[in-house]
Amino acid sequence: MNNEALEVLKNRRSIRKFKTEQVTREELNAVLEAGTFAPTGAGTQAPVIVAVRDPAVVKKLDEMNARVLNMPQMPHPYYGAPAILLVLVPRNGITPVEDGSLVAGNLLNAAYAVGLGACWIHRSKEMFDSEEGRELLKEWGLPEDMMGVASIALGYPDCPQPKAAPRKEDYIVWVE
Ligand SMILES: Cc1cc2nc3c(=O)[nH]c(=O)nc-3n(C[C@H](O)[C@H](O)[C@H](O)COP(=O)(O)O)c2cc1C
Repeated sequence: MNNEALEVLKNRRSIRKFKTEQVTREELNAVLEAGTFAPTGAGTQAPVIVAVRDPAVVKKLDEMNARVLNMPQMPHPYYGAPAILLVLVPRNGITPVEDGSLVAGNLLNAAYAVGLGACWIHRSKEMFDSEEGRELLKEWGLPEDMMGVASIALGYPDCPQPKAAPRKEDYIVWVE
């Protein structure tokens, strides 16, 4: 079957090398809008997406994530991306991790669809459970009970499009 949306879903790959050039508002808006159309449990639209383009805040988030990672050989977990998207959810919601993960999936696929590179970066829960993280939430006018579910390094790819690993043989179980 030949279908543009399916091609995006199959061809998106994690990008880990970025140009320094900032992503445009227009492209970012398209990605963010796709994120807001992700399904959420009971249609609550509980997640919040924080779009960070401020270089000082990008640097701070990179340092916070590196502290959680605690691997001196990997000092820049966001790979120098000029923008970071954070997906936060109220921790006492009905389906917080599921909602946040689906939003992040939409963001990753939409980024690829508009020609941007993106990579899910782990450890956002620890980042926003920290004192520093809670301070940021306050600064951004968000409730203190928000939990980090995903964070995404975003920018223009500065590398060839990576190839997908072969899909494992037993991925799909047919029952018919
Ligand atoms: C929950 C989750 C956490 C991830 N955390 C990281 C991370 O911290 N750093 C990183 O470079 N990639 C991270 N990734 C990206 C995966 O390594 C990547 O999706 C996987 O290797 C498959 O490659 P692909 O995205 O190109 O298909 C994460 C992906 C997911 C879904």
